[in-house]
Amino acid sequence: MGRARGVPVLRLRPRSARLCRQQPGKCARKPRLRLRVPAPRAMALLQPSRLLGAATSRRACLAPAAARSSSWWSHVEMGPPDPILGVTEAFRRDTNTKKMNLGVGAYRDDNGKPYVLNCVRKAEAQIAAKKMDKEYLPIAGLAEFNKASAELALGETSEVIKNGRYVTVQSISGTGSLRIGANFLQRFFKSSHDVYLPKPSWGNHTPIFRDAGLQLQAYRYYDPKTCGFDFSGALDDISKIPEKSIILFHACAHNPTGVDPRPEQWKELASVVKKRNLFVFFDMAYQGFASGDINRDAWAVRHFIEQGINIVLSQSYAKNMGLYGERVGAFTVICSDAEEAKRVESQLKILIRPMYSNPPINGARIASTILNSPDLRKEWLGEVKGMADRIIGMRTQLVSNLKKEGSSYNWQHITDQIGMFCFTGLKPEQVERLTKEFSIYMTKDGRISVAGVTSGNVGYLAHAIYQVTK
Ligand SMILES: Cc1ncc(COP(=O)(O)O)c(C=O)c1O
Repeated sequence: MGRARGVPVLRLRPRSARLCRQQPGKCARKPRLRLRVPAPRAMALLQPSRLLGAATSRRACLAPAAARSSSWWSHVEMGPPDPILGVTEAFRRDTNTKKMNLGVGAYRDDNGKPYVLNCVRKAEAQIAAKKMDKEYLPIAGLAEFNKASAELALGETSEVIKNGRYVTVQSISGTGSLRIGANFLQRFFKSSHDVYLPKPSWGNHTPIFRDAGLQLQAYRYYDPKTCGFDFSGALDDISKIPEKSIILFHACAHNPTGVDPRPEQWKELASVVKKRNLFVFFDMAYQGFASGDINRDAWAVRHFIEQGINIVLSQSYAKNMGLYGERVGAFTVICSDAEEAKRVESQLKILIRPMYSNPPINGARIASTILNSPDLRKEWLGEVKGMADRIIGMRTQLVSNLKKEGSSYNWQHITDQIGMFCFTGLKPEQVERLTKEFSIYMTKDGRISVAGVTSGNVGYLAHAIYQVTK
């Protein structure tokens, strides 16, 4: 196309287009592409949207460069799917109307539906009516939430709270809290970077601590012979852990086994921990959800502190307030005194700032409104108990239905275990049959979420378990 005489020409050399003439990896000569465009049109082309258009029109020319840049990730291997999400996907594809998803760790009501607590709905309405702003929270989160959270875990009359020898920061639910804790220990716990987990533990504990740069070790916890707590194995292993190592305990409703130590067993565990001078990390993701009583479920945490063990603690409001997707949690460090707590707090903020700057506001407002208003708190305690009682009731019904079916096995562990999960003791091949023949989905280790069992399907589940175990 010819150029009108006297119209000045701008020469554009888009950076990406410079590669145009090169044969990949061959041409050493500095390439040059000149677009000869009349100046007014050139100015228009300089607008970002137009530049994109111009680049697109030369796509054929740029193709070799684009193809080569895709090789940056050729070494990245396909990772394995998440085992629990994989169960959910397979469940979704199943067309059997009797299908059951017992893999997912979220509470369902007796109709098998997700449940939003009334106290949460009311707190949301109160918050909406206040027309609050959406400004950033401080790095450590919502102060009134943090205080209420520490009081919920430690007890309002706790000496730790009275003396202000603790720091609590808001976290992105339980997972985020564990990660803050892991990073804090990696940076400041000088004695050891070995973390001892119960065997088995929640699947995410390993990558959380490992990705923070700590080394994973284990102590005996679950006894497959009894489907219960291997108390002597745990005591034996813990008494041999090198001094000043880190040990993690599930405060209640152990995931995945549903097996919790009894108070007298906790007492002995605390005394061994003290003797070995171990550093204790408590993960409390289910306060109130195990027994239906928030104080009973926090008993171990409070007992250890009363014994003079200065723990760190993760809390989650995913299960006990049903705030799964709101991501509300807290991380607490118990210190020797208030001055130490201030120093620790300053370093926690330094850790959090480059991770996510500051936590989300909405869920913390909901939890804080519930914890800090007497009426809503009372309603919440009733609702937590309601959820826990429904789960406990399903355990009892499952066992009685198994007996009705004629099963001669001892299923007592189903009712002895507590919380959302039950380690049934089913073997992988039995789990496979449950899925293939009855459309009942669960993880291969035989763990079921009792929250997914309802009065409408407990009979079907018992029948299916009987069929694969008889
Ligand atoms: C033992 C344990 N810790 C922590 C969590 C953290 O959950 P979230 O990040 O949803 O609060 C869970 C959730 O399943 C859990 O079972």
